[in-house]
Amino acid sequence: MAVQRIKRHKQKIKQVAVLTSGGDSPGMNAAVRAVVRSSIFLGLKVFGVHRGYSGLLDNDVHPMDLGAVANIIQRGGTILKTARCPEFLKKSARKRAAENLRNRGIDGLVVIGGDGSFRGAHALATEFDFPIIGIPGTIDNDVFGTDITIGFDTATNTGLRAIDQIRDTANSHERIFVVEVMGRNTGFLAMDVGIGGGADAIVVPEAPLSVAKIAQQIKRGEKRGKKSCIIVVAEGNKSGKSIRIADQLQQKYGYSSRVCILGHIQRGGSPTARDRKVASGLGSFAVRELAKGFTDAMGGIRGRDLVLSPLVESFKKRKTFQKDLLALVEALAT
Ligand code: F6P
Repeated sequence: MAVQRIKRHKQKIKQVAVLTSGGDSPGMNAAVRAVVRSSIFLGLKVFGVHRGYSGLLDNDVHPMDLGAVANIIQRGGTILKTARCPEFLKKSARKRAAENLRNRGIDGLVVIGGDGSFRGAHALATEFDFPIIGIPGTIDNDVFGTDITIGFDTATNTGLRAIDQIRDTANSHERIFVVEVMGRNTGFLAMDVGIGGGADAIVVPEAPLSVAKIAQQIKRGEKRGKKSCIIVVAEGNKSGKSIRIADQLQQKYGYSSRVCILGHIQRGGSPTARDRKVASGLGSFAVRELAKGFTDAMGGIRGRDLVLSPLVESFKKRKTFQKDLLALVEALAT
């Protein structure tokens, strides 16, 4: 893909709206708070759109003041609510959304969500010339253009806490535990949960591992007297779901195995300090960049810097997955 410049709009931004879209993630509230407070700090009026793009279509749009975001920085979920909105895939729906915003005198929008949400945001920004900045909020950390997404750190720590607890019972019963983590079709979450949790193997879509190889890994541990094992599997793993892996470990290799699917537990909970800081920085950055005249872009964090990249890249380009870390897992599990 050719290098793209950040687009500019000609609007004098006076009123902005903010929405959360797609799967919620811990830290979204901190981001909403930052958008609202930074807007007011810059002298702008600010509105909250409830239920993501669905709320844009239904005109579920409400003015927000400083007090509206008091006492939410520590709360998981999103006070604005969120939704998956298949209708927004239609151009006619996006036209209605742009009209609804303009009819209220709103001239800029901040979208907090993942790559699917940014697809819709990019279409809205380009087809109807509506100024939009996105900021990445998803536990999956699978968005190109940022080192970290809002919610990833909390979800990783939630996964770690679960593994620490599973370890106790795994040890007592001398069992294999296959722990399935979220991440849609990527293994970013599984990798960090697995390394931090001292997993014996990590199975991700980017580097599928056969059950035979997992069994081999378990055998190696057994040889040095290890009686229990933790295998972390990403939900999007192509070579088989956690239940099938555990079944085969039991049936074919005779290992007493249990499965624990962490599921939506990873989406909830109070955000970590890191997620709150990332969300606060990005929320404020989004408003400032919108007011400066940038549009159709995503605010992200690279190293210590807040950076803008074209929205289209967030869902068209793939973030690099550090496969080499799997060698570390193998080395540390022996
Ligand atoms: O994108 C966040 C995420 O939690 C993924 O990890 C997961 O695959 C998906 O959302 C689940 O979506 P839903 O809550 O709509 O079932």
